[in-house]
Amino acid sequence: MRAYEIIEGEGVDSIALRDRPAPVARQGQVVIDVKACSLNFRDLNVIRGGYGGTDKPFGSIPLSDGAGIVAQIGDGVTDVSVGDRVSPAFMPGHLDGPLTAEKQAGSLGAQVDGMLAEQVALPASGIVKIPDHLSFAQAATLPCAAVTAWYALFVGGALKPGQTVLLLGTGGVSIFALQFAKLSGARVIITSSDDAKLERARQLGADDTINYRNTPDWHDAVLALTGGQGADIAVEVGGPGTLNKTLQAVRFSGSISLMGVLTGFEDKVDTLSILRKNIKVQGTYVGSVAVMREMVRAIDVNRMQPVVDRVFGFDDAADALRFQESGGHFGKVAISLE
Ligand SMILES: NC(=O)c1ccc[n+]([C@@H]2O[C@H](COP(=O)([O-])OP(=O)(O)OC[C@H]3O[C@@H](n4cnc5c(N)ncnc54)[C@H](OP(=O)(O)O)[C@@H]3O)[C@@H](O)[C@H]2O)c1
Repeated sequence: MRAYEIIEGEGVDSIALRDRPAPVARQGQVVIDVKACSLNFRDLNVIRGGYGGTDKPFGSIPLSDGAGIVAQIGDGVTDVSVGDRVSPAFMPGHLDGPLTAEKQAGSLGAQVDGMLAEQVALPASGIVKIPDHLSFAQAATLPCAAVTAWYALFVGGALKPGQTVLLLGTGGVSIFALQFAKLSGARVIITSSDDAKLERARQLGADDTINYRNTPDWHDAVLALTGGQGADIAVEVGGPGTLNKTLQAVRFSGSISLMGVLTGFEDKVDTLSILRKNIKVQGTYVGSVAVMREMVRAIDVNRMQPVVDRVFGFDDAADALRFQESGGHFGKVAISLE
Protein backbone atom coordinates (compact mmCIF):
# COMPACT_ATOMS: atom_id res chain seq x y z
CA MET A 1 0.00 0.00 0.00
CA ARG A 2 1.06 3.60 -0.60
CA ALA A 3 1.65 6.10 2.19
CA TYR A 4 3.23 9.54 2.45
CA GLU A 5 6.16 9.93 4.82
CA ILE A 6 7.75 13.07 6.26
CA ILE A 7 11.26 13.48 4.82
CA GLU A 8 14.17 15.94 4.91
CA GLY A 9 13.35 19.06 2.94
CA GLU A 10 12.08 22.59 2.94
CA GLY A 11 8.66 23.61 4.21
CA VAL A 12 5.53 21.69 3.29
CA ASP A 13 7.27 20.04 0.33
CA SER A 14 9.03 17.60 2.66
CA ILE A 15 6.71 14.66 2.12
CA ALA A 16 7.20 11.72 -0.25
CA LEU A 17 5.02 8.82 -1.41
CA ARG A 18 6.42 5.44 -0.34
CA ASP A 19 5.41 1.77 -0.51
CA ARG A 20 4.80 0.11 2.85
CA PRO A 21 3.59 -3.38 3.78
CA ALA A 22 -0.21 -3.51 4.10
CA PRO A 23 -1.17 -3.34 7.81
CA VAL A 24 -2.79 -6.30 9.59
CA ALA A 25 -5.40 -5.89 12.36
CA ARG A 26 -3.90 -7.16 15.64
CA GLN A 27 -5.78 -7.84 18.88
CA GLY A 28 -8.21 -4.95 19.51
CA GLN A 29 -7.38 -3.19 16.25
CA VAL A 30 -9.15 -2.40 13.00
CA VAL A 31 -7.64 -1.79 9.58
CA ILE A 32 -9.28 1.07 7.70
CA ASP A 33 -9.25 1.61 3.94
CA VAL A 34 -8.75 5.38 3.98
CA LYS A 35 -11.11 7.22 1.60
CA ALA A 36 -10.31 10.84 2.50
CA CYS A 37 -8.08 12.97 4.71
CA SER A 38 -8.35 16.59 5.78
CA LEU A 39 -5.73 19.18 6.60
CA ASN A 40 -5.19 21.26 9.71
CA PHE A 41 -2.82 24.14 10.41
CA ARG A 42 -1.06 21.77 12.83
CA ASP A 43 -0.14 19.45 9.93
CA LEU A 44 1.78 22.30 8.29
CA ASN A 45 3.73 22.88 11.50
CA VAL A 46 4.48 19.16 11.92
CA ILE A 47 5.73 18.81 8.32
CA ARG A 48 7.72 22.07 8.44
CA GLY A 49 9.21 20.94 11.78
CA GLY A 50 9.39 22.44 15.24
CA TYR A 51 5.73 22.06 16.25
CA GLY A 52 5.48 22.71 19.98
CA GLY A 53 9.24 22.35 20.36
CA THR A 54 9.27 18.75 19.07
CA ASP A 55 11.66 17.43 16.43
CA LYS A 56 10.45 16.85 12.89
CA PRO A 57 9.09 13.27 12.87
CA PHE A 58 11.09 11.86 9.94
CA GLY A 59 9.51 8.71 8.51
CA SER A 60 6.09 9.28 10.10
CA ILE A 61 2.90 9.33 8.04
CA PRO A 62 1.50 12.91 8.21
CA LEU A 63 -2.06 14.23 8.83
CA SER A 64 -4.17 13.54 11.91
CA ASP A 65 -7.52 13.47 10.16
CA GLY A 66 -9.18 10.95 7.88
CA ALA A 67 -12.17 8.74 7.27
CA GLY A 68 -12.78 5.44 5.52
CA ILE A 69 -14.23 1.93 5.64
CA VAL A 70 -13.30 -0.83 8.08
CA ALA A 71 -11.56 -3.56 6.05
CA GLN A 72 -10.42 -5.95 8.84
CA ILE A 73 -11.09 -6.39 12.53
CA GLY A 74 -8.71 -8.03 14.99
CA ASP A 75 -9.50 -10.46 17.80
CA GLY A 76 -11.64 -9.00 20.57
CA VAL A 77 -13.22 -6.25 18.46
CA THR A 78 -16.99 -6.33 19.01
CA ASP A 79 -18.46 -2.88 18.44
CA VAL A 80 -17.04 -2.21 14.96
CA SER A 81 -17.70 -4.38 11.89
CA VAL A 82 -16.12 -4.80 8.47
CA GLY A 83 -17.82 -2.31 6.14
CA ASP A 84 -18.52 0.35 8.79
CA ARG A 85 -17.86 3.96 7.75
CA VAL A 86 -15.57 5.42 10.41
CA SER A 87 -13.15 8.16 11.40
CA PRO A 88 -10.40 7.78 14.04
CA ALA A 89 -10.23 10.31 16.88
CA PHE A 90 -7.27 12.73 16.91
CA MET A 91 -5.95 11.03 20.07
CA PRO A 92 -7.33 7.46 19.81
CA GLY A 93 -6.00 6.67 23.31
CA HIS A 94 -7.79 9.65 24.92
CA LEU A 95 -11.05 7.84 25.50
CA ASP A 96 -12.60 10.20 28.07
CA GLY A 97 -11.85 12.37 31.08
CA PRO A 98 -9.06 14.89 31.64
CA LEU A 99 -6.12 15.10 29.25
CA THR A 100 -2.80 13.61 30.38
CA ALA A 101 0.67 13.58 28.85
CA GLU A 102 0.24 9.90 27.91
CA LYS A 103 -3.08 10.50 26.11
CA GLN A 104 -1.66 13.50 24.25
CA ALA A 105 1.44 11.60 23.13
CA GLY A 106 -0.75 9.29 21.04
CA SER A 107 -2.04 12.03 18.71
CA LEU A 108 -1.97 10.93 15.08
CA GLY A 109 0.12 12.46 12.33
CA ALA A 110 3.19 13.59 14.28
CA GLN A 111 5.35 11.16 16.29
CA VAL A 112 2.66 8.49 15.70
CA ASP A 113 1.74 7.58 12.10
CA GLY A 114 -1.22 9.55 10.72
CA MET A 115 -3.84 9.15 8.01
CA LEU A 116 -2.22 10.09 4.66
CA ALA A 117 -2.02 6.45 3.56
CA GLU A 118 -4.17 3.96 1.68
CA GLN A 119 -4.62 1.85 4.83
CA VAL A 120 -4.09 2.37 8.57
CA ALA A 121 -4.32 0.03 11.62
CA LEU A 122 -5.65 1.62 14.81
CA PRO A 123 -7.25 0.59 18.12
CA ALA A 124 -10.97 -0.04 17.65
CA SER A 125 -11.69 1.89 20.87
CA GLY A 126 -10.47 5.11 19.22
CA ILE A 127 -12.71 4.82 16.14
CA VAL A 128 -16.00 6.71 15.68
CA LYS A 129 -18.78 5.75 13.24
CA ILE A 130 -19.65 8.62 10.90
CA PRO A 131 -23.11 9.88 9.90
CA ASP A 132 -24.61 8.52 6.65
CA HIS A 133 -25.27 11.98 5.22
CA LEU A 134 -21.58 12.94 5.17
CA SER A 135 -19.22 12.28 2.28
CA PHE A 136 -15.86 10.80 3.25
CA ALA A 137 -14.23 14.19 2.61
CA GLN A 138 -16.68 15.84 5.02
CA ALA A 139 -16.26 13.11 7.64
CA ALA A 140 -12.48 13.44 7.38
CA THR A 141 -12.76 17.01 8.72
CA LEU A 142 -14.16 15.94 12.10
CA PRO A 143 -11.32 14.64 14.34
CA CYS A 144 -9.27 17.80 14.94
CA ALA A 145 -10.94 21.08 13.90
CA ALA A 146 -14.53 20.07 14.63
CA VAL A 147 -13.82 18.42 17.99
CA THR A 148 -11.69 21.41 19.02
CA ALA A 149 -14.49 23.85 18.12
CA TRP A 150 -17.07 21.70 19.96
CA TYR A 151 -14.86 21.43 23.06
CA ALA A 152 -14.12 25.17 23.01
CA LEU A 153 -17.80 26.13 22.91
CA PHE A 154 -19.57 23.48 24.96
CA VAL A 155 -16.96 22.00 27.32
CA GLY A 156 -14.45 24.81 27.92
CA GLY A 157 -16.93 27.62 27.25
CA ALA A 158 -20.23 26.08 28.52
CA LEU A 159 -22.07 28.04 25.80
CA LYS A 160 -25.78 28.81 26.29
CA PRO A 161 -28.39 29.91 23.73
CA GLY A 162 -28.48 33.69 23.35
CA GLN A 163 -24.84 34.21 24.32
CA THR A 164 -22.40 35.95 21.98
CA VAL A 165 -19.44 34.05 20.51
CA LEU A 166 -16.41 35.76 18.97
CA LEU A 167 -14.59 33.87 16.20
CA LEU A 168 -11.31 34.87 14.53
CA GLY A 169 -10.78 34.21 10.82
CA THR A 170 -12.56 31.70 8.62
CA GLY A 171 -10.31 28.62 8.87
CA GLY A 172 -11.35 25.11 9.86
CA VAL A 173 -11.84 25.57 13.61
CA SER A 174 -13.65 28.91 13.28
CA ILE A 175 -16.12 27.74 10.63
CA PHE A 176 -17.01 24.64 12.68
CA ALA A 177 -17.44 26.91 15.71
CA LEU A 178 -19.75 29.14 13.63
CA GLN A 179 -21.90 26.17 12.62
CA PHE A 180 -22.05 24.71 16.16
CA ALA A 181 -22.76 28.09 17.76
CA LYS A 182 -25.66 28.72 15.37
CA LEU A 183 -27.01 25.17 15.99
CA SER A 184 -27.18 26.05 19.67
CA GLY A 185 -28.91 29.41 19.25
CA ALA A 186 -25.97 31.70 19.97
CA ARG A 187 -25.07 35.01 18.33
CA VAL A 188 -21.84 34.94 16.29
CA ILE A 189 -19.41 37.75 15.56
CA ILE A 190 -16.68 36.61 13.15
CA THR A 191 -13.63 38.34 11.70
CA SER A 192 -11.75 37.77 8.44
CA SER A 193 -9.15 39.45 6.25
CA ASP A 194 -11.45 38.96 3.25
CA ASP A 195 -14.89 40.46 2.61
CA ALA A 196 -15.90 37.60 0.29
CA LYS A 197 -15.23 35.12 3.10
CA LEU A 198 -17.26 37.29 5.49
CA GLU A 199 -20.16 37.10 3.02
CA ARG A 200 -19.86 33.27 3.03
CA ALA A 201 -19.85 33.36 6.85
CA ARG A 202 -23.07 35.41 6.81
CA GLN A 203 -24.65 32.78 4.54
CA LEU A 204 -23.78 30.19 7.21
CA GLY A 205 -25.57 32.31 9.82
CA ALA A 206 -22.94 34.71 11.20
CA ASP A 207 -24.78 37.67 12.74
CA ASP A 208 -22.00 40.27 12.58
CA THR A 209 -18.77 40.41 10.61
CA ILE A 210 -15.59 42.49 10.90
CA ASN A 211 -12.73 42.72 8.40
CA TYR A 212 -9.70 42.62 10.71
CA ARG A 213 -7.41 43.88 7.94
CA ASN A 214 -9.46 47.06 7.37
CA THR A 215 -10.31 47.35 11.06
CA PRO A 216 -7.10 46.66 13.01
CA ASP A 217 -8.88 47.69 16.24
CA TRP A 218 -11.43 44.91 15.73
CA HIS A 219 -11.73 44.46 19.50
CA ASP A 220 -13.30 47.95 19.67
CA ALA A 221 -15.72 46.93 16.90
CA VAL A 222 -16.73 43.87 18.98
CA LEU A 223 -17.36 46.10 21.99
CA ALA A 224 -19.46 48.47 19.82
CA LEU A 225 -21.54 45.53 18.54
CA THR A 226 -22.19 44.32 22.10
CA GLY A 227 -23.22 47.60 23.72
CA GLY A 228 -19.77 48.02 25.28
CA GLN A 229 -20.02 44.69 27.12
CA GLY A 230 -17.96 42.31 24.97
CA ALA A 231 -18.51 38.73 23.79
CA ASP A 232 -19.35 35.95 26.27
CA ILE A 233 -16.98 33.40 24.72
CA ALA A 234 -14.06 33.73 22.30
CA VAL A 235 -12.52 30.87 20.32
CA GLU A 236 -8.88 32.02 20.21
CA VAL A 237 -7.23 30.53 17.14
CA GLY A 238 -4.77 33.40 16.67
CA GLY A 239 -2.56 33.02 19.75
CA PRO A 240 -0.05 35.60 20.94
CA GLY A 241 -0.70 38.08 18.11
CA THR A 242 -4.44 38.32 18.82
CA LEU A 243 -4.88 37.30 22.48
CA ASN A 244 -4.49 40.78 24.01
CA LYS A 245 -7.17 42.19 21.69
CA THR A 246 -9.41 39.20 22.42
CA LEU A 247 -9.01 39.97 26.15
CA GLN A 248 -10.39 43.45 25.36
CA ALA A 249 -13.22 42.02 23.26
CA VAL A 250 -14.70 39.62 25.87
CA ARG A 251 -16.95 40.72 28.71
CA PHE A 252 -16.23 40.72 32.43
CA SER A 253 -16.43 37.09 33.66
CA GLY A 254 -16.39 35.90 30.05
CA SER A 255 -14.24 33.05 28.79
CA ILE A 256 -11.60 32.44 26.14
CA SER A 257 -10.92 28.97 24.78
CA LEU A 258 -7.29 29.25 23.74
CA MET A 259 -6.01 26.79 21.16
CA GLY A 260 -4.37 28.77 18.36
CA VAL A 261 -0.82 29.36 17.26
CA LEU A 262 -1.57 31.07 13.94
CA THR A 263 0.57 34.04 15.01
CA GLY A 264 3.26 32.04 16.83
CA PHE A 265 3.89 30.42 20.20
CA GLU A 266 4.79 33.17 22.66
CA ASP A 267 4.57 36.91 23.37
CA LYS A 268 3.61 39.29 26.18
CA VAL A 269 0.18 38.60 27.67
CA ASP A 270 -2.01 41.31 29.21
CA THR A 271 -2.42 39.52 32.52
CA LEU A 272 -4.01 42.60 34.09
CA SER A 273 -7.09 42.26 31.85
CA ILE A 274 -7.43 38.58 32.76
CA LEU A 275 -7.53 39.27 36.49
CA ARG A 276 -9.32 42.63 36.42
CA LYS A 277 -12.14 41.31 34.21
CA ASN A 278 -12.25 37.85 35.86
CA ILE A 279 -11.76 36.21 32.46
CA LYS A 280 -11.46 32.42 32.33
CA VAL A 281 -8.74 31.42 29.85
CA GLN A 282 -9.18 27.73 29.07
CA GLY A 283 -6.34 25.92 27.30
CA THR A 284 -7.75 23.57 24.67
CA TYR A 285 -6.16 20.53 23.05
CA VAL A 286 -8.77 18.95 20.76
CA GLY A 287 -10.89 16.53 22.87
CA SER A 288 -11.50 12.89 23.72
CA VAL A 289 -13.13 10.04 21.79
CA ALA A 290 -16.22 10.55 24.00
CA VAL A 291 -16.38 14.25 23.04
CA MET A 292 -16.07 13.31 19.35
CA ARG A 293 -18.97 10.81 19.70
CA GLU A 294 -21.14 13.49 21.40
CA MET A 295 -20.33 15.95 18.58
CA VAL A 296 -20.99 13.41 15.82
CA ARG A 297 -24.44 12.73 17.31
CA ALA A 298 -25.27 16.45 17.05
CA ILE A 299 -24.00 16.61 13.45
CA ASP A 300 -26.12 13.56 12.61
CA VAL A 301 -29.35 14.76 14.27
CA ASN A 302 -29.04 18.21 12.67
CA ARG A 303 -27.84 16.90 9.28
CA MET A 304 -25.04 19.48 9.59
CA GLN A 305 -22.80 19.82 6.53
CA PRO A 306 -19.10 20.43 7.27
CA VAL A 307 -17.71 23.03 4.85
CA VAL A 308 -15.07 21.55 2.53
CA ASP A 309 -13.63 24.28 0.34
CA ARG A 310 -11.48 22.14 -2.00
CA VAL A 311 -10.75 18.44 -2.46
CA PHE A 312 -7.35 17.42 -3.91
CA GLY A 313 -6.30 13.99 -5.27
CA PHE A 314 -3.99 11.66 -3.28
CA ASP A 315 -1.15 12.30 -5.74
CA ASP A 316 -1.57 16.06 -5.23
CA ALA A 317 -1.13 16.07 -1.44
CA ALA A 318 1.70 18.64 -1.62
CA ASP A 319 -0.59 21.00 -3.58
CA ALA A 320 -3.23 20.57 -0.86
CA LEU A 321 -0.69 21.50 1.83
CA ARG A 322 0.41 24.55 -0.16
CA PHE A 323 -3.22 25.65 -0.56
CA GLN A 324 -3.80 25.27 3.20
CA GLU A 325 -0.60 27.23 3.85
CA SER A 326 -1.77 30.08 1.55
CA GLY A 327 -4.76 30.73 3.82
CA GLY A 328 -6.96 31.02 0.73
CA HIS A 329 -9.42 28.45 2.03
CA PHE A 330 -12.74 28.88 3.82
CA GLY A 331 -13.41 26.05 6.27
CA LYS A 332 -11.59 22.85 5.37
CA VAL A 333 -9.28 21.42 2.71
CA ALA A 334 -9.49 17.68 1.95
CA ILE A 335 -7.64 14.96 0.03
CA SER A 336 -9.62 12.17 -1.60
CA LEU A 337 -8.39 8.60 -2.09
CA GLU A 338 -11.62 7.43 -3.81
N1 LIG B 1 -5.00 23.14 20.45
C1 LIG B 1 -5.85 22.50 19.68
O1 LIG B 1 -6.53 21.60 20.11
C2 LIG B 1 -6.03 22.93 18.26
C3 LIG B 1 -6.87 22.21 17.41
C4 LIG B 1 -7.11 22.69 16.13
C5 LIG B 1 -6.45 23.85 15.73
N2 LIG B 1 -5.60 24.47 16.56
C6 LIG B 1 -4.94 25.71 16.17
O2 LIG B 1 -5.96 26.65 15.86
C7 LIG B 1 -5.52 27.48 14.79
C8 LIG B 1 -6.51 27.39 13.64
O3 LIG B 1 -6.40 26.10 13.08
P1 LIG B 1 -7.13 25.78 11.71
O4 LIG B 1 -6.72 24.41 11.31
O5 LIG B 1 -8.55 26.16 11.80
O6 LIG B 1 -6.36 26.81 10.77
P2 LIG B 1 -6.63 27.24 9.28
O7 LIG B 1 -7.80 26.54 8.72
O8 LIG B 1 -5.34 27.12 8.54
O9 LIG B 1 -6.98 28.79 9.46
C9 LIG B 1 -6.41 29.74 8.60
C10 LIG B 1 -7.19 31.03 8.72
O10 LIG B 1 -6.97 31.66 9.98
C11 LIG B 1 -7.21 33.04 9.83
N3 LIG B 1 -6.13 33.82 10.44
C12 LIG B 1 -4.81 33.75 10.20
N4 LIG B 1 -4.15 34.69 10.91
C13 LIG B 1 -5.10 35.38 11.59
C14 LIG B 1 -5.07 36.48 12.48
N5 LIG B 1 -3.91 37.09 12.81
N6 LIG B 1 -6.24 36.95 12.98
C15 LIG B 1 -7.40 36.33 12.67
N7 LIG B 1 -7.51 35.29 11.83
C16 LIG B 1 -6.35 34.82 11.30
C17 LIG B 1 -7.29 33.36 8.35
O11 LIG B 1 -8.68 33.56 8.06
P3 LIG B 1 -9.16 34.66 6.97
O12 LIG B 1 -8.61 34.15 5.67
O13 LIG B 1 -10.63 34.62 7.08
O14 LIG B 1 -8.55 35.97 7.39
C18 LIG B 1 -6.77 32.06 7.72
O15 LIG B 1 -7.35 31.81 6.47
C19 LIG B 1 -4.10 27.01 14.44
O16 LIG B 1 -3.16 27.77 15.16
C20 LIG B 1 -4.08 25.57 14.93
O17 LIG B 1 -2.79 25.11 15.23
C21 LIG B 1 -5.38 24.04 17.82
